[in-house]
Amino acid sequence: MIVSGKAKLAGVIGWPVSHSRSPRLHGYWLDRYRIDGAYIPLAVHPDHLSDVIKALPRMGFAGVNLTVPHKEAALKLVDRLEDPAKTIGAVNTLVFEADGTIIGRNTDAAGFLQNLRTGAPHWDPKDGSAVVLGAGGAARAVIAALQEAGVPDIYLANRTLERTKALIADIPGPKAVAWEERARVLNGASLLVNTTLLGQTGQPPLEINLSVLPKAAIVTDIVYAPLETDLLRRAKERGNVVVDGLGMLLWQAVPGFEVWFGQRPEVTPELRAFVLENS
Ligand code: ATR
Repeated sequence: MIVSGKAKLAGVIGWPVSHSRSPRLHGYWLDRYRIDGAYIPLAVHPDHLSDVIKALPRMGFAGVNLTVPHKEAALKLVDRLEDPAKTIGAVNTLVFEADGTIIGRNTDAAGFLQNLRTGAPHWDPKDGSAVVLGAGGAARAVIAALQEAGVPDIYLANRTLERTKALIADIPGPKAVAWEERARVLNGASLLVNTTLLGQTGQPPLEINLSVLPKAAIVTDIVYAPLETDLLRRAKERGNVVVDGLGMLLWQAVPGFEVWFGQRPEVTPELRAFVLENS
């Protein structure tokens, strides 16, 4: 690690922040490219978020990532929002410009798409419908990404129907599907995305009957702990191409690193292994 008096500074703000893998991820790139810089975890209580965001540019920070629970609150604390942060309703990357302007971005949607395109290069958005499970912040980013990519039909199923409706009110287009009907809409789908917490270590498994899902469909999970969720294992066993969720975490970090530290970093198998080592 090189940190001189001229070091460039960035970090991640969360409450708590101890679970975040971003310091490890950015730290790997800083070492890899021998950059004079630091990326640090910042545990900030929601009551202090506004003060901290105002102070960081004055302390010389180039920007920060935001994680739970700050992604929505930060929308109101920036001077300018870049697409698609407004549509998604969340900001995960702040860029502090030299004149003090604070720019809010959401790089989760692009990260999701890059991960999908890297893991399933043959995927053609026009191939057919997509089924998205969940209606939280991650689902918003995934749906914005799928719409941007040109997926013709998106079916959205979430345990709580009101949340599905609220999402569609903000991001029109997807068709609301009752949670009990989630397996039925797999018929004819070319993509299945899990954005719920189900299947994550310590959470219940995702129950969904895959029998009508075409074998050519791609199945992806944004859960990456474990890397191979029960959903991905079952999909792989029946012949579907599967894409795990770790790449979304890695790819969403690329734009921030590039703008703060002046180097576009690479997502490599070594990086994947390094980030997983500590899990
Ligand atoms: P994020 O912003 O990361 O997407 P979130 O807003 O907490 O996280 O959303 C979690 C998602 O997992 C939601 O879609 C949630 O469904 P509800 O909106 O009904 O809460 C879903 N989820 C969590 N536990 C679940 C469970 N036991 N069964 C079904 N869905 C569940």
